[in-house]
Amino acid sequence: MKSADADPNLIVYFGGKYVPISEAKVGILTHALHYGTGVFEGIRAHWDEPAQELFVLRPMEHYQRWKRNCGILRIDVPLAPQDLCDITLELMRRNALRTNVYVRPLAYKCAERVGVAPDDQDAFAIIALPFGDYLHAENGLHAGVSSWRRVEDNAIPARAKICGAYVNSALASDDARRNGFDEAIFLNEDGHVAEGAACNIFMARNGTLITPPVTDNVLEGITRDAVMTLARHELGLEVIERSIDHSELYICDELFLSGTAVGLAPVVRVDHHAVRDAAIGPITRRLQQLYFDATRGHLPAYRHWLLPVYGSNSKTQGSKLEELAELATTSVA
Ligand SMILES: Cc1ncc(COP(=O)(O)O)c(C=O)c1O
Repeated sequence: MKSADADPNLIVYFGGKYVPISEAKVGILTHALHYGTGVFEGIRAHWDEPAQELFVLRPMEHYQRWKRNCGILRIDVPLAPQDLCDITLELMRRNALRTNVYVRPLAYKCAERVGVAPDDQDAFAIIALPFGDYLHAENGLHAGVSSWRRVEDNAIPARAKICGAYVNSALASDDARRNGFDEAIFLNEDGHVAEGAACNIFMARNGTLITPPVTDNVLEGITRDAVMTLARHELGLEVIERSIDHSELYICDELFLSGTAVGLAPVVRVDHHAVRDAAIGPITRRLQQLYFDATRGHLPAYRHWLLPVYGSNSKTQGSKLEELAELATTSVA
């Protein structure tokens, strides 16, 4: 998928201020640019036409995960998750976004000097972009098992969205697309299935939903958690976290990918094997519908996952934001 370049007038949060994206620049010697020393997030907001509302999906969990994972690289994001949610809402309002949106928080080592050992100069930015489908999965995807193996936790932890680790994903995605596949599936060094290049993976066998455990070099996905919750509570399915063998990809009943960008994307072929009859399976379809309804505010039981941008119960105040902006400016090198 290639998305269009961002509108140069898009307002982003950078250096503690709201500025047009055309002014949000980093220097050529920035540490993260050379050494991959950044941690990012991906958050979705979905536009619901009937409610005329934009719903941000589980932003608190995303910002909590971001701050926790920044800790692995000892990057400090000096604001609380609630304050980061406020900035996110403000960005959407300033840009008058009334469509599906992807939010990209990025924290990074910002010192401008040569030398791999990081110091304590950290910066962060948040960008909210109009964003449609990441993968076109209406008829199911054709995935290829990559010859690139997933990064191991003792090399670069896959559980955090560490910028440098995405070289691993970029190599596998590029290879998959050049070989005619829609998406790559990674194996671990021990040969078990890990995840997609930017998504987790689920398989259904005999009515049970199975996904690799978080100790198998996967991102601890928030969509993964949502899928497990919906499967257990709405469909009454047994959900198991266990390692998946390579060959199970060829004999399972259903297979799908999950992630903030991809949502729930069915896989109907892996390498040169059809998943069952190469049609989207019933469990996948029901979970896709449940996920769609939950993320658009149609299921009251999951309204607590959503933060409305334009609704009256969202809490941003202008003065609070100016305070936050000042705090962020002083902490950015
Ligand atoms: C490597 C990888 N795995 C899984 C996911 C899915 O995680 P989440 O559902 O939290 O977006 C992502 C998301 O970007 C990812 O990059």
